Amino acid sequence: MKALDIIHDEHRALGAVLQAFGFVLDGIRDGRFEPDFALLAAMIEYITQVPDKLHHPKEDDYLFVKMRERIPAAAALLDQLEAEHAEGARRTAALRGALVHYQGIGPAVFAEFEAAARTYLAASWSHVNREETELLPLARTGLAAQDWAEIDAAFEANKSPWSGPAGEFRALFSRIVNMVPSPMGVGASASAKG
Ligand SMILES: [Fe+2]
Ligand SMILES: [Fe+2]
Repeated sequence: MKALDIIHDEHRALGAVLQAFGFVLDGIRDGRFEPDFALLAAMIEYITQVPDKLHHPKEDDYLFVKMRERIPAAAALLDQLEAEHAEGARRTAALRGALVHYQGIGPAVFAEFEAAARTYLAASWSHVNREETELLPLARTGLAAQDWAEIDAAFEANKSPWSGPAGEFRALFSRIVNMVPSPMGVGASASAKG
């Protein structure tokens, strides 16, 4: 699989869980779902660990390095995207802390948890959108076949969240899909439909 396809796939999978997370937050806020803390924890693990551990390091170490070499005009955009990657650990800690607080105190602090979660979701969407609409088009036009061959080879060692050494994320994704209520997932309320 080529590096560009891997990046797209990881963006798509991450986007699906970000969307499911928003759907679950809506349901809790509107009183349609009871909070499922195992599901919330699994979604938070996915939307923080896939970017922090799997996805951003590949972008930083291979794609961005090559783009800096070959496409000087991309420097400001790369600076900004790298700064957002570097913020990952702090943002992850804030979101996890908000979940622990919500689980410990209960419904009285749901609004606080929701605000922290929506902030995280918005930042993640904006990062992925900027890469899809600005970074990847620049990479496509500015890198040569030999550059891509080198990037592809480096990505090959790292794979996608679906297989290989990162297979844990595929398992986590499946667990999440099985816990998210219908119509978004196939969890509890979907089972009644058979
Ligand atoms: Fe990124
Ligand atoms: Fe990305």
